[in-house]
Amino acid sequence: MKSAPIGIMDSGIGGFSVVLEVRKLFPFCPIVYFADPLHFPYGEKRKEELAPIVQPVVDFLVHGIKVGLLVVACGTVSSLLLPELRKRYTLPILGIVEPACREALAVVQEGAIGVLATRATIRVGAFRQALTRFRPGVEVVEEAWPEFIEAVEGGVFDTPSWRLWARERLEALHARGVRGVIMGCTHFALISTFFEELARGLFPIVNPAVSCAQEVGKFLPLGQPQKPGPLTVFVRGDREGFLRVIERFCFPLEMDVVSFENACRWVAHAWG
Ligand code: DGL
Repeated sequence: MKSAPIGIMDSGIGGFSVVLEVRKLFPFCPIVYFADPLHFPYGEKRKEELAPIVQPVVDFLVHGIKVGLLVVACGTVSSLLLPELRKRYTLPILGIVEPACREALAVVQEGAIGVLATRATIRVGAFRQALTRFRPGVEVVEEAWPEFIEAVEGGVFDTPSWRLWARERLEALHARGVRGVIMGCTHFALISTFFEELARGLFPIVNPAVSCAQEVGKFLPLGQPQKPGPLTVFVRGDREGFLRVIERFCFPLEMDVVSFENACRWVAHAWG
């Protein structure tokens, strides 16, 4: 992969879960993140609608930025479009579904596995299919929480009423025999410590960003450059609004946030 940047994409803030884990493991890698608030939420769209939205994003990262590896840090795109993307592009493309399912099966030996995701992800059942392929007969309980994804994207999820709302749903999953829950939407992965706290005494939480970041290592060259890699965020849509969301999360990351509309100028200048 030489020193090409890693491309990481999501509809919004959720994919930062993967950025944070990749940064922890590989601080020297340049990262280009793509957020698409113009089309958020992806999880309310059908595959036919989502494909032409995602295609130009991947074209930009692959042909414009020339990323060496693409991480689809979005449960919805990983579930609906990963096989097509892998057929269309020659670079390695990682999604979150399989790493998360392997991790969940390592953690949960008995009982059902819960999946919290978008409506689109649950509709196609990608997590259920992967889990049953890896462990035939495993019980899977899937739930879509679209309203909570909106709350996370707005940065206003940590309130007493949302806590109560989420805790009651987690308790209901436990009552149905769930013994571990996959954050099947990266917006939930991003706040997995919030979920871990709420689920204390019920079951473990599986954050797909961790296992996904570990997979990234398989594609990196041996020997790392000596200076920290830059993080550049391209935003399609409301850059200022997205910047405010980023600020609410107080990530320990330095980054340049560029409007996608200015991308061509920026790419020509920064990446030659
Ligand atoms: N982060 C996206 C996912 O993992 C969900 C958000 C959306 O609906 O756009 O599925």
